[in-house]
Amino acid sequence: MPIPRSILARDGFTDLDLVVTGGVWPDDLAGEIFLSASDQRTAPQHAFFGDGAMIRLSLRPGTHGAAPGTFAWRTSLLDTPSQRLRTARPDRFEATVIGTRSPFGFSNSANTAPLPWGDRLFATWDAGRPVEVDPVDLRFVAEVGHRDDWAPALDAPVLPLVSSTAHPVIDPDRDCMWTVSLDPIAGAVQIVRYDGEGPRVQRWPVQDGAIPQSMHTITQTRDWLILADCAFRADPNEIFGLGERSVTNFPDEPVYLIRKDAVEATPSGEPVAATAFRVGPEVMHYFARYEDGDGIEVLFEHTPDTDLAMYVRADDLDAYGRPVDPALAGMYNHPMHATVVSVLRFDPETGVVRERASMTEPDRYHSTQLSAMDWSTEGVSNPTVHHLLCSGFRPEAITRRALDLYGDRVGPLPDHEIPSALVTLDRESLAVERDWIWPLDDYPSSPTFVPRPGSSPTAAAAGATRYAGHEPGGHHGYVVVPVLSDDGFRVEVFDAADVAAGPVATVAAPGRATVPFILHAAWMPAARPAPDRDQLRFADELRDDRLAELPADLADVARRVAADLT
Ligand SMILES: [Fe+2]
Repeated sequence: MPIPRSILARDGFTDLDLVVTGGVWPDDLAGEIFLSASDQRTAPQHAFFGDGAMIRLSLRPGTHGAAPGTFAWRTSLLDTPSQRLRTARPDRFEATVIGTRSPFGFSNSANTAPLPWGDRLFATWDAGRPVEVDPVDLRFVAEVGHRDDWAPALDAPVLPLVSSTAHPVIDPDRDCMWTVSLDPIAGAVQIVRYDGEGPRVQRWPVQDGAIPQSMHTITQTRDWLILADCAFRADPNEIFGLGERSVTNFPDEPVYLIRKDAVEATPSGEPVAATAFRVGPEVMHYFARYEDGDGIEVLFEHTPDTDLAMYVRADDLDAYGRPVDPALAGMYNHPMHATVVSVLRFDPETGVVRERASMTEPDRYHSTQLSAMDWSTEGVSNPTVHHLLCSGFRPEAITRRALDLYGDRVGPLPDHEIPSALVTLDRESLAVERDWIWPLDDYPSSPTFVPRPGSSPTAAAAGATRYAGHEPGGHHGYVVVPVLSDDGFRVEVFDAADVAAGPVATVAAPGRATVPFILHAAWMPAARPAPDRDQLRFADELRDDRLAELPADLADVARRVAADLT
């Protein structure tokens, strides 16, 4: 029973004080790890689409309310306008195949990734604006940018559908957030910039920037924004209940490079030019080296034959033709292909993209899941290693439905299960430096890199940034990995320079408590309260003419939520 049956439990969302059960907790491991989660208590059809929750794991014992010698795992359902409206009128909210709908509109689940920006913290997802969260009390602060600035994909009286990316980027030179707004019907993309203050954002259409599917990630170099179409494709028939899912993800995608200075020289609302490329196979996550003086290089974590829009249903058969365990109903259809990673070099002068390196080891690394890297400015400028988590070949969470739909695209499946792996890759050559393989019954998730603190004399002289460790790049520090298991939740700490040595320390939930499905994680050096700022208020978005589209009782609920948030 390799995938924990507790993974979709609706009772496992509680605060824990984790206790050391193995190894020695490193003295120089500090700061806070934030993890986004989709709250399964809100009963999504697809496990990805529950209301957003934020978890904070404190890396110093006895802090944030934990008993001495234990580590605080603190959880909070984000009290966004969407969540508050649902709490007020749960009877009017309905789970759909791509999210949550109500007469108010489309819930912003804000459940996918924590995004630090200095001392600020945002929660993101693909079908909503980023949501600022207080890093200490984990409560809602504000949504980013007035709804009218985003050009919503679908309008609604209170909660318009903003189709965006779950992975905006923070520009260290311009001290701004870059993200996107998509029009999935026209297949167009617009760049969005948030300067950190005030209720407004700016927006620029990308000229001829056709996006046939979605954009889970964007990335950047010092001078360029890089936007790739991603392998998550909506099926209108499925969404509107007209039939079974019949579309498959495209096997390659357009990629657009846009100069930041061209965006800055263009008035908001006017189109900006892009250089178009085409790459493959499919991708969801990709990361550019920020330093681009020597060329533009991007690491792509490819996701061939991975259809994350599909999820396990209770009446499905699995990859080996067995009835699925209903405990897994709602879990995403697991990848049907081995891990593939590449480093591609883009030349915007010639429009040529070349592969510099690639890695695939089908017998050992299956199913690209998530990764950990050094997100300090120094780390992204000159990354040394990339820590990749592969969730393994998990036939019980791959449905016959998905295999039939993808047909010949999926090659022969392994005849045995492949366990999860943590792989450290050289960032230039993608050579495997080290790996760690878990037992089959463990389900690791969301790895995070935590740098060893302090600056080397060279780095200090160069003016090291606050997130930078002693030797930036990803090799000098720790990789922290939460491990889901029916035998009890634990967090394992690896030396980033030698994950093959196994965990140097492990902390576990008391009483073998389990923790359900979690998504991305990110590290911050400290948790500080969000100060008061001039920001968007939910009340600023309510308009009488829009509220008039609602029954009077629901319009009153929206006004009450706005008043509570003000
Ligand atoms: Fe992601």
